[in-house]
Amino acid sequence: MGRQVLCQLSDLDATGAKEIVLDRDGARFPVFVVKRGDDIRGYVNSCPHARLPLNWKEDAFFDVSRSYLFCANHGARFDILTGKCLRGPCKGLSLVPFPVRLDDEMVVAV
Ligand code: FES
Repeated sequence: MGRQVLCQLSDLDATGAKEIVLDRDGARFPVFVVKRGDDIRGYVNSCPHARLPLNWKEDAFFDVSRSYLFCANHGARFDILTGKCLRGPCKGLSLVPFPVRLDDEMVVAV
């Protein structure tokens, strides 16, 4: 398992989030990375309610207030930094995180 460049930090400027396919040991996972202030997080793009991708539109992962991650399917809202569902049908469950870090203006999976 090696370092994989996911996107440039500037790719998050427009929507605050970016969809990517993560390669891990030959398996491919739909994931997204999000930026909140100086913090970056990565999550598998699968809602714990019905295991559907959260977004219907490209790179759209926030609710209208941009205070929460949002599942477009049934309206679940998640804490941006912990991935925990705070409202909706999967309240108390969490998105699956994966470790990311910034490396010279690039977002990388570690
Ligand atoms: S699939 Fe996300 S709230 Fe139902």
